[in-house]
Amino acid sequence: MKIVVFISGRGSNLKALLDDENGYKVSHVICNKREAKGLQLAQNRGVTNTYIDWSNSKQAESIASTVIEEETPGLIVLAGFMRILSTEFTAKYKNKIINIHPSLLPDYPGLNTHQRVLDDNKSMHGASVHFVDGLLDHGQVISQTHIKVQPNDTATSLANKLISKEHKLLTHTVGLIANQQLNWENNSLHYTGKPL
Ligand code: GRF
Repeated sequence: MKIVVFISGRGSNLKALLDDENGYKVSHVICNKREAKGLQLAQNRGVTNTYIDWSNSKQAESIASTVIEEETPGLIVLAGFMRILSTEFTAKYKNKIINIHPSLLPDYPGLNTHQRVLDDNKSMHGASVHFVDGLLDHGQVISQTHIKVQPNDTATSLANKLISKEHKLLTHTVGLIANQQLNWENNSLHYTGKPL
């Protein structure tokens, strides 16, 4: 299955997907930051990539749609993509766009999730992969990974602990969808793979 990956920055989740490609292939990377490390990575790995200036989001989405129509991917993956897609765009690709977010959604949508978890004295933190529906970090949650918050944790230590778990969660989830072991039908998720 072909996937198109949207990024804005470092691209460590993109790297994890490129290193995994278990039943799927990253066919195109779309990036809204010219200087993003992730865009450099795509170029170094020989992955077709497109920089899109997102200052006019309507125009940007129209260019992104053209790329998607050309690629016809099975899935669109937002991996550290820092723009909110419109309801028109997300409705067009309903149940085809997933995002990785560093919190246990529906808790802590938005930015600075690690610090907000600490400020609220939470004992658990984590990351979620979810379908994207046009609201910020909102839509059906598909999968989650958890970490325990320790008394000496800082926002940086939580981010560092979580990122490798994020990579596993994202590659595993994309693999399940690509290998048709996870289906979204009749408004609910169906897991038809091996027992976990
Ligand atoms: C990750 O923490 C992801 O959950 C969030 O943005 C970060 C992107 O990191 N949406 P990277 O660019 O994949 O390294």
